[in-house]
Amino acid sequence: RKRVRIRHFAQAKASGEKITALTSYDVQTARIFDEAGIDVLLVGDSAANVVLGLDTTLPITVDEIITLAKAVVRGASRALVVADLPFGSYERGPEQALDTAVRFMKETGVAAVKLEGGERSADVIRRIVDAGIPVMGHIGFTPQAEHGLGGHVIQGKGETGRAQLLRDALAVQEAGAFAVVLEMVPAKIAAEVSAQLEIPTIGIGAGAGCDGQILVWTDALGLGSGRVPSFVRAFADARAVFLDAATAYRDAVKDGTFPAASESFSDPTAD
Ligand code: KIV
Ligand code: NA
Repeated sequence: RKRVRIRHFAQAKASGEKITALTSYDVQTARIFDEAGIDVLLVGDSAANVVLGLDTTLPITVDEIITLAKAVVRGASRALVVADLPFGSYERGPEQALDTAVRFMKETGVAAVKLEGGERSADVIRRIVDAGIPVMGHIGFTPQAEHGLGGHVIQGKGETGRAQLLRDALAVQEAGAFAVVLEMVPAKIAAEVSAQLEIPTIGIGAGAGCDGQILVWTDALGLGSGRVPSFVRAFADARAVFLDAATAYRDAVKDGTFPAASESFSDPTAD
């Protein structure tokens, strides 16, 4: 099983083969998703919500994502591992952004970084790419800007929104990104952007016309307990599996049926 490389994204776009991506924040899920043949493991700043229990992605730090990214890299032998640059780690401009991206490359072993913003982030993307670090873009709804955008609002609507999304997509491509996430945009405009771009689009809440799809893994496997966005499909009920197992363990300890003799050590010299 050959390692997924940046060049495979252009090949996938050319051949029409869909790119598969999930978030991952730890070595166990990284191993499982890698074995399942998921192409991209994103150490998303959604770890702020999923791992740390925060309401937004804004507070998570570079150090926190770096710790998680190291674990995901250890679990992935085929998948391309990408880490999010968190809010505050690239907004001051290309030099700050490059410093942050270099930290990720030196300290974690990820193959690429992802950052939010189209036209507004083009110079930052260009600087990182020029240093030999692959960048994945992220446009449409960008969670780090949720206060500026006025909440979880669908982007790319109407003629103004459509034109802005197209400008953002082209800016990200021109700046040298190898792929771009389209989040929460109407399916029709996402398909149009995908057709216009040479680089693959990876959709989340962006319809089937994208070149690939990404989901937050706890949403995709049904582990979350909060409200789930309408664009999510739960491919399992992992929450029920975990809850049933923890309850069965609790019951077995309480009633003394765990551990059994076979789950205990004996000392033949003492029996
Ligand atoms: O942080 C994240 O999980 C993401 C994806 C949902 C695209 O950025
Ligand atoms: Na993110």
